[in-house]
Order: sequence, then C-alpha cells, then structure tokens
Amino acid sequence: MAAASTPQSFLLQHPLYPSLKTLSYIPSKQHLRPRPRLSTVSCTAVHPAPASPSVTKDQDRIFNFAAGPATLPESVILKAQSELYNYHGSGMSIMEMSHRGKEFDAVIKRAESDLRLLLAVPDDYAVLFLQGGATTQFAAVPLNLCEPDDAADYIVTGSWGDKAFKEAQKFCKPNLIWSGKSDKYTKIPPFEGLEQNPNAKYLHICANETIHGVEFKNYPTPSNRDAILVADMSSNFCSKPVDVSKFGVIYAGAQKNVGPSGVTIVIVRKDLIGNAQPITPVMLDYKIHADSASLYNTPPCFTIYICGLVFEDLLEQGGLVEVEKKNAKKAGILYDAIDGSDGFYVCPVEKSVRSLMNVPFTLQKTDLEKKFIEEAAKEGMIQLKGHRSVGGVRASIYNAMPLAGVEKLVAFMKDFQARHL
Ligand SMILES: Cc1ncc(COP(=O)(O)O)c(C=O)c1O
Repeated sequence: MAAASTPQSFLLQHPLYPSLKTLSYIPSKQHLRPRPRLSTVSCTAVHPAPASPSVTKDQDRIFNFAAGPATLPESVILKAQSELYNYHGSGMSIMEMSHRGKEFDAVIKRAESDLRLLLAVPDDYAVLFLQGGATTQFAAVPLNLCEPDDAADYIVTGSWGDKAFKEAQKFCKPNLIWSGKSDKYTKIPPFEGLEQNPNAKYLHICANETIHGVEFKNYPTPSNRDAILVADMSSNFCSKPVDVSKFGVIYAGAQKNVGPSGVTIVIVRKDLIGNAQPITPVMLDYKIHADSASLYNTPPCFTIYICGLVFEDLLEQGGLVEVEKKNAKKAGILYDAIDGSDGFYVCPVEKSVRSLMNVPFTLQKTDLEKKFIEEAAKEGMIQLKGHRSVGGVRASIYNAMPLAGVEKLVAFMKDFQARHL
C-alpha cells in the first residue's frame, strides 16, 4: 500500500499518467488534469464504455482514519467503479436514472431487505432512507413522538447527545436525566440509579459518541412501560448485532459505517408512525416516508446504491457477528498499545465503555501531538486529528478500516514513542 505524499507524487503514480513519469519538470495542476477522451459522434443510442484505467486493489490507497465521511470497503468502491459507466447494461449510470425506474426500484428494495437481514429487523418495524443527516433526526424524533408539552428523557454522554437534547427543546419538554459533561464525557452511568420521568414519551441515548469515544455496551430500559428507547447509532450502526426490538426508533447517518454521506437510515416501530405534530414538515414526518417507501421525493439514489453494496459486503463477511469480532480485534490492539505505552499515550475513556469505532487519545507530551499527526500522514495514515472541540488524536476504525491499517498505526505509535522518550 503506497502512500501518496504530495499531489504530484500521487498523480505521477496514477495509471492515467504513465508518460508523465518521464517528465523532467514538476507539472502544474493544470497540466496534470486528465485530458478528456475525444469521443466520436455515434448514432447508436448507447455508447460503448471507454476503456477504463485499470485501477487495481491496494494501488495508491491510504489508511483513512476519518470520523466521517469515512473509509469504505475497497471491494465496494471497485464494484461501484465497474458498474458506474453503464449500470447493468442500462446504458447509463445509476446517478442518471429515475428514482422511480425499475433499476433503482430494485436497488432500494434490495438495500432494505439486506439491511433487514443484517440487523434482523422485525416485520413490525419500518426502514426508511431519509435525508438531512442525523442532525435532522434530532428534531424529527420529538416531532414524531411527542406533543409540544410531552416530556422526554435524555442521557447525554457526549456532544452529539447534547445537540439532540438541545434541539428537542424546540419541540417538546426534554429532561436531561444524566450528563457526563463534568467528567469530560468519559463515562456512561449505571442504569439503576437513573431518575427517569414517569411520563416521558421516550428515553434518548447516543449509542456511540463519535467525538468522545464512549459507547453503550448494553442499553437502559425506559421505566415508563409505554415509553420507548430511541438511539442515535450514527457511528456504530451495523458494527455489531443489535436487538432492534429493544428500541422504538434507531437512526443513523450512513457516512461512517455503511456508505457515503447523504442518507440517514431510520428504523422505527410501525405503531409509532402517524402521530407527528401538525407543524411537522413533510420531510420530517415518518408517515409520509413510510407510506411512500422512502420515495416521497427524490432520494439520494447514489448513496443508497452504495449503502446497498456495503450491506451485501457485510452479509458476505458472515453478518454482524463476524463484523463485530473483527472490530473488537482492531480496537483491542489499539487500546492495548495505548495502555501499554507507560503513559506516553492516554485514552481518557473509562475502559468498560470504550468505543470500538472511535478511539480518542492524547500524548502525555501534548506538544508532540501535531508532529505525531503530521508524521503519520506522511506514512499514509490520515485524518488522525481529534475533533476540534477536544483536540488530541482520534483514530476512527469503522468496519471498513482493515486490520492492516490498525497494525500499521500501532507500529507507527511504538516507533514514534521510541524516538521521543
Ligand atoms: C453520533 C453522531 N450523531 C449525529 C451526527 C450528525 O450527523 P450529520 O452530520 O449526518 O447530521 C454525527 C456526525 O458525525 C454523529 O457522529
């Protein structure tokens, strides 16, 4: 796996530019832009596909530790590439098709059924492919589940849960029943001691806090028998099996574990649909989208198509039980490296709730963090900077991060430590 250290070196390695290797000057960006293929005018309705540059597995790919949009499985990218120009002989790409045509209809239905298989989604739950990011769900959840004066409980274990709680204040009466803010969001509370509101319509959690690296390993039960559990699973969606029946609503932005940005998946128990507040915009009303099978308006077709390829890939890997094993192994070697560094690296999160997806850590010598991140990037490991609100380092190791990426990071950490003792 070769790292491209400069744009020029990346392009010089690119198969589109074999002849540039012989150039004796550094070409400007303009010179390096791929020249459009000159096509001849043809009278046939479908042009033959141009010979595609032969991009092979592992060529020029770096290890991308970004928190989202994040790395995708190589096999998915290569498959999308192979189908891009002429999707299944249709003479056009999936991006150019009607969302009401037979090809896309098959894509969205397959994506839904594969996701249902992966998570064993019970029949009494709807699966919706929506837009607006998980941020929109911060409003959609109270709008669909509450009247303006209804109570809802929020456990806030990080910045995303906090944002959800604050947005809900516009649409219902949320209670903050626990916050980890005073501990810098490094903990999850014991569930027994939580003082839930007996009238709360729902209990909201963020299953994995992407910025702080705190993950629920099991889930609280709402004390009110009629209340439901709602989870923002954006950053650990499909990273492990989940008992969907424990939740009333699960929502997740795709751009971490299951696809590119642009789609938010909502899994909602069907009996909860149809009670949205009258002011609810159509785009936020679960009933509108459930009744039209996520095709009320133009959906993000390409994103849904890629999500479908990711779901297929996860099923081929043996489903989420196998995926979780791989994730646990990757996270294990990274946390072991941190904990075994004699304090050179420090992960502040309580061990029992450390995320398998986002691993934040600091260097004891904080002035070395910038150098660490820069040197790692030179070695082909990018996006290791912690979120701007907390600083430090963060390695996001979602499903698609190969074990080799984590092993390379750990080897780099050990080497960096040895050089800076
Ligand atoms: C846990 C969590 N919730 C919500 C969001 C917001 O997602 P979006 O940017 O798709 O609105 C993010 C984004 O990183 C996240 O990590």
